[in-house]
Amino acid sequence: PASTTRLPHGGLAVGGVPLTEIADRFDTPAYVLDEGEVRARCRTYRDAFPDAEVLYAAKAFLSRAMVHWVAEEGLGLDVCSAGELELAVTAGFPPDRILLHGNAKSPRDIETALRLGVGRIVIDSPSEIARLAAAVGPGGHQKVLVRVVPGISAGGHEKIRTGTDGQKFGLSLTDGSAQHAVTRLLGQPQLELVGLHCHIGSQITDVKPYLTAVRRVVGLMARIRDAHGVTLPELDMGGGHGIAYRPGEPALDLTALAGRLRAELVESCAGAGLPVPRLAVEPGRAIAGPAGVALYRVLAVKRTGDRVFVAVDGGMSDNPRPALYGVRYAPRLIGRRSTAASCTATVVGRHCEAGDILAADVELPGDVHPGDLLAVPVAGAYQLSMASGYNMVGRPPVVAVAHGAARLLVRRETLDDLRRRDIGD
Ligand code: LLP
Repeated sequence: PASTTRLPHGGLAVGGVPLTEIADRFDTPAYVLDEGEVRARCRTYRDAFPDAEVLYAAKAFLSRAMVHWVAEEGLGLDVCSAGELELAVTAGFPPDRILLHGNAKSPRDIETALRLGVGRIVIDSPSEIARLAAAVGPGGHQKVLVRVVPGISAGGHEKIRTGTDGQKFGLSLTDGSAQHAVTRLLGQPQLELVGLHCHIGSQITDVKPYLTAVRRVVGLMARIRDAHGVTLPELDMGGGHGIAYRPGEPALDLTALAGRLRAELVESCAGAGLPVPRLAVEPGRAIAGPAGVALYRVLAVKRTGDRVFVAVDGGMSDNPRPALYGVRYAPRLIGRRSTAASCTATVVGRHCEAGDILAADVELPGDVHPGDLLAVPVAGAYQLSMASGYNMVGRPPVVAVAHGAARLLVRRETLDDLRRRDIGD
């Protein structure tokens, strides 16, 4: 996780900056992002996948600075809206190294992608083919991939499993809709089919489902070669690489994934008499997640029955993940050393519903009290990007730390920001 250093008196520093200093200077709640850790994770991917394209999945967390770090570390980018795409390109990301996803691309998504010259567009449904071909126009040219559903169940939670039929993403391998889309695409001169795509789910900690997916998708590549005489040069195996949210939890072994994925790809292709396509992967969580820490201030402590509720100044509006997926975090007290015996507490947010729980049944010092600071590690992915305007509290800022200095990347959303959008009466 983020390069944390324990300080005397219960302090904790990230990227060389004490978190208490960040809370004082930027207020709470706040997300802290360790730039060195993000960059190190990008490099770990580049080293593990030396012959593959590594595309950072922007949905995990995106800001202008993040765009620069990812570009400088030699990664491509996976986006799924005109918004993510415009932010990336206006921050200087080379559009030809961007890939656009989406199960329901809006006219604006497609127009923006074509106008900015996005490298690849992933076809997710049959109706999209004619729409995209028309938008590109006769004489135009766009590289595309087809997203294939290989019939594999994997992923940390039912809501983030995308490898099976019966969910909204991609085109099925089993009912022939993937093959059908390929046939139609090969008849569209302005759309160049360069490969297949497959993202089986998210927060996957086991290598095996990826290997099964590779075998099945290569099988489709062989059938495409047999039916059409076309050899597809690219294979994008998506992201979904799982990380540990608490000490001791399993994480996907990246080196094992990289090695076994390549071996499986080489073997499957040899078996089918196909040249090995260029591999791409799309990690989001595994790059941003462990590099972030969320900071909260305790506002109230309540003991009811045998439960202790520790209420903080954020909650489900800045981290909906426990409520959505039952994810468990490990908050810790920082900024003072407590000698009190620990108690089992439930860290809750400030929002108006009982399900606004950040961390149920965690161990905290028994003397935890209002004014204390809590740090929640592994908060860099799918938090700000999924933050909402619930109860009009305003979304937290993002503070980057590097080489002992902190700087603001994304400012706090103010009440003025929120009010300004309300223009009717
Ligand atoms: N590629 C595609 C096509 C995707 O749909 C996703 C994630 C990724 C790559 C990146 O997956 P990652 O490596 O970050 O797991 N909000 C959920 C996660 C949703 C993931 C959606 N797609 C969460 O907070 O766990």
